[in-house]
Amino acid sequence: MELPYCEPYKMKMIEGMRRSTITERKSWIKEAGYNLFNLKSSQVFIDLLTDSGTGAMSDIQWSEMMKGDESYAGSSSYYKMKEAIAEITGFEYFLPTHQGRAAENVLFSVLVKPGDIVPGNAHFDTTKGHIEFRKAQAVDCTVDEAFDIKSPFPFKGNVDTDKLEYVLQNNPKERIPLIILTITCNSSGGQPVSMQNIKEVHQLAQKYGIRLFFDAARFAENACFIKMREKEYADKSIAEIVREMFSYADGMTMSSKKDAIVNIGGFVAFREKELFEQTSMYNILFEGFNTYGGMSGRDMSALAQGLFEGTQFEYLESRIRQVASLGQYLKEFGIPIQEPFGGHAIFVDAKNFLPLVPKEEFIGQTLAVELYVEAGIRGVEVGTLLADRDPVTRENRYPKLEMLRLAVPRRVYTDNHMYYVAVALKNIFDRRMEIINGYRIVKEAPIMRHFTVELGKISSDTGK
Ligand code: F0G
Repeated sequence: MELPYCEPYKMKMIEGMRRSTITERKSWIKEAGYNLFNLKSSQVFIDLLTDSGTGAMSDIQWSEMMKGDESYAGSSSYYKMKEAIAEITGFEYFLPTHQGRAAENVLFSVLVKPGDIVPGNAHFDTTKGHIEFRKAQAVDCTVDEAFDIKSPFPFKGNVDTDKLEYVLQNNPKERIPLIILTITCNSSGGQPVSMQNIKEVHQLAQKYGIRLFFDAARFAENACFIKMREKEYADKSIAEIVREMFSYADGMTMSSKKDAIVNIGGFVAFREKELFEQTSMYNILFEGFNTYGGMSGRDMSALAQGLFEGTQFEYLESRIRQVASLGQYLKEFGIPIQEPFGGHAIFVDAKNFLPLVPKEEFIGQTLAVELYVEAGIRGVEVGTLLADRDPVTRENRYPKLEMLRLAVPRRVYTDNHMYYVAVALKNIFDRRMEIINGYRIVKEAPIMRHFTVELGKISSDTGK
């Protein structure tokens, strides 16, 4: 028999979690305005809100924390980080930032101007936010398969190169400062981009003389998918695949809270010295001096170590397979989910799960609240609340997919926890025809409303 996958680590320290009662959860979620972001973490049993900054560091990372050098300038922690980035990605220049969106901010401060166009594959919210904040436009060129949740297409993060070439051909070169490839693509469901596609995008970028940057938060998971799904790469090491991936890019922004398995941190890395120097000025202005940029020395040391641990195949395989095990349980229960399973999360198709809830009543959020009340599990809506209102008409925007994202933190939960989550969802699925109403907005912010929105429950007796 072939030996199954298992985690290449064991537990040395644990953190208790308290199971609450349904009565407690009903009252807590009501007090939270039916917004899961407003819950205290102590009111949550299994927290799948995000895989960002929620991973468990290793004993070696914790020992690196102790060795952190807190010098303002030129700390040894900075040089550890520099060496790790150079070895893993091949980029010679880098700037530390406090997290991923800060890396976007400093890079775009140099590159993106009003009226510009930044094509890519379903830009992440903060990336799009930083582009739009500069009165530029993010153009989504993702392949159509990404929006068909049943399509078995193995690389739903890919760019449709025809769509990309159309944008490159029909706009002046000066208006396209860069192309951004997000690996894996969070917004299309933690879906990978193939090496083939990375190469093709690189070739188009070269042909039109435009820079290509990766939004590389989950680059190691992407590399693991390439190894598992792209035949030519089956026998290559993750290190080789990662080096090849980055060889096609001019630089990267990184949220280290994902694949570098730290609780805070980020960076932007470059091949060109000149761009690095231009960006440095903004890093000093917004983040901090170039050798710490918003991070403490200890965090930089742990990050450097995390980059090596996060790119080990045995770890990545167990991570991706654990997420897939959650997907598999749900699939066996007949629950509609996105396939193939993503690298960091399972996306539940809320529209098909709750067919009787009207779209105006926030189907994804309704399912998220149900799951919390059922079993104390916190996921996040990726649907109408997140999609926000049209800036001009102020009408709600209804995205193609109305999802509940269950993001799995790294090295934190066991496969039993995954099974617990699946059974909780099955219980709701069994009574889905009794769920006919959702929520209405009581209070919302003008942008990024999903973080702070307050909702009211619509009664199934009165529909109000
Ligand atoms: N890019 C991608 C692809 C991301 O998923 C995120 C964050 C960022 C950039 C921004 O990084 O949070 O360090 O500033 N994603 C988190 C999530 C928040 O839950 O998916 P950050």
